[in-house]
Amino acid sequence: MGRRVLVLPGDGIGPEVVAAALPVLEGAAALTGVEVELTHDLIHGQAWDAYGTFCRDETVAAAKAADAVLCGAVGGPRWDHAVPEGTPEEKDGLMRLRRELDVHAGIRPAVAWDHLLDRTPYRPDVVRGTDLIVLREMCGGVMFAAPRGRGTGADGRSEASDTARYGEAEIERHLRAGFALARRRRGLLTSVDKANVMESGALWRETADRVAAEYPDVEFRHLYADNCAYQLARDPRQFDVIVTDNLFGDILSDQAAAVSGSLGMLASASLATVTPPGTATRPGIYEPVHGSAPDLAGRGTANPIGAMLSVSLLFTFGFGDPATGAAIEQAVMATTAEGVLTPDLGGRATTTEVSDAVLNHLHGAR
Ligand code: NAD
Ligand code: IPM
Ligand code: MN
Repeated sequence: MGRRVLVLPGDGIGPEVVAAALPVLEGAAALTGVEVELTHDLIHGQAWDAYGTFCRDETVAAAKAADAVLCGAVGGPRWDHAVPEGTPEEKDGLMRLRRELDVHAGIRPAVAWDHLLDRTPYRPDVVRGTDLIVLREMCGGVMFAAPRGRGTGADGRSEASDTARYGEAEIERHLRAGFALARRRRGLLTSVDKANVMESGALWRETADRVAAEYPDVEFRHLYADNCAYQLARDPRQFDVIVTDNLFGDILSDQAAAVSGSLGMLASASLATVTPPGTATRPGIYEPVHGSAPDLAGRGTANPIGAMLSVSLLFTFGFGDPATGAAIEQAVMATTAEGVLTPDLGGRATTTEVSDAVLNHLHGAR
C-alpha cells in the first residue's frame, strides 16, 4: 500500500534541510519497498508571498488526507508583522496546521551520542548517556488561548495580554500520552509546570496526579519549570520523559538540544495520539525542532540532521516501521562518527555532504 507524505519545506533553511532529508526518505523507502507519494506545498512565509495567507485551506485538506506531513521550518523577520491582528492560526501557518490536525503530543527526543560528547557544552562525564524526550503539548495553552491581543491601558499607553488556559481534558490526554511513552522506555515520567504561581499550573498538577494513579508501574514526579531548566543544565541524565505544556515544552526542548551538541540535531514528531508505532490512524507532523535560522539561510551549511531524524520518526510513528526508522538513525550516527559535521558541530561539511554521507551509509545497510 502506498503512503502519502505532504512536504512543506517552509522558509529560511527549511527548504535546505528538507532537500537534504528527502533523498534519505526516498532511499529508506526504496530499501523497504514501500511506495511513497510526495506532494509539495507552501507554508507560512512562502505561502504568504504566493497566496496572501500563511496556510491555505487546500493545504490543511491535503495534510488531513496524507499519512504524514514533513515540515522544514517557518518564519522570518519579513513576515513577523504581516498580520497585525488575528488568531495564532491566522498569524502562523504551522500553528494552524498543528491545531487543525490536533497533534497535541510533540515528541522531541534529545540524545547525547558518545562520539559527539566533546561537541557539547557539557563535561563528558555529566552528559554521557543522556537520552530523554520532551513531550510538549502543541495545541493549547498560552500560545493559543483567547482572549489575547493588544489594547490601551488605564494610563493611556499600549498593553498586550495572552491567556494561559488549559482544560482538564487537554491536560489529561497529554499526561496519558506521557505515561504511555514512559512505559515503553525507562518508565520515568517528570511532569513540569508552574503550579506554585499559575492557576493553569495547579490544574495541570492535580490532573497529572489523578492520571498517575492509573499508571502505578511508571515512576512519576513533578518539577517546577524553572528547576527543570536548572536540572537539565546540571544533570540531564536524570530524565527519561518530560511531559509539559506548550510554552515550557518549547523552551525546554531547545535547551535539551544542547546535550546533542546542536539545536540542528533535534527532531520532532507531533502526533494526535501516542499509540504503539504502527497503529497511528491520523497524520502527524514531522519537523526539526529548530527554526528557519535567517542567519544561516542560503549558505548551504545548515545541519540537516534534525530534519533527517524527523524522517526517522516519520517511518517509526507515521509508517509503523521502527526498523527503518532505526536504520536512518544508524546512518546518521555513522556519518557523524566519521566526522562529517556541519559548522554548528565544529565541522566543515556542507548540508549536501552530510546528506550524501548519510545516504551512503543507508545504502550500506542493505
Ligand atoms: P532558530 O532555531 O532558527 O535559530 C537559533 C540558533 O540556532 C541560530 O543561531 C541558528 O543559526 C542555529 N540553528 C538553528 N537551526 C540550525 C541548523 N539546522 N543548523 C545549524 N544551526 C542552526 O531560532 P530563531 O533564530 O529564534 O528563530 C528564527 C525564525 O524561525 C523565527 O522567525 C522563528 O519564529 C522561527 N522558528 C520556527 C520554528 C519552526 O518552524 N518549527 C521553530 C523555531 C523558530
Ligand atoms: C517550535 C517553534 C514554533 C513554536 C514557532 C515557529 C511557532 O518555536 O516548533 O518549536 O513556538 O512552537
Ligand atoms: Mn521552538
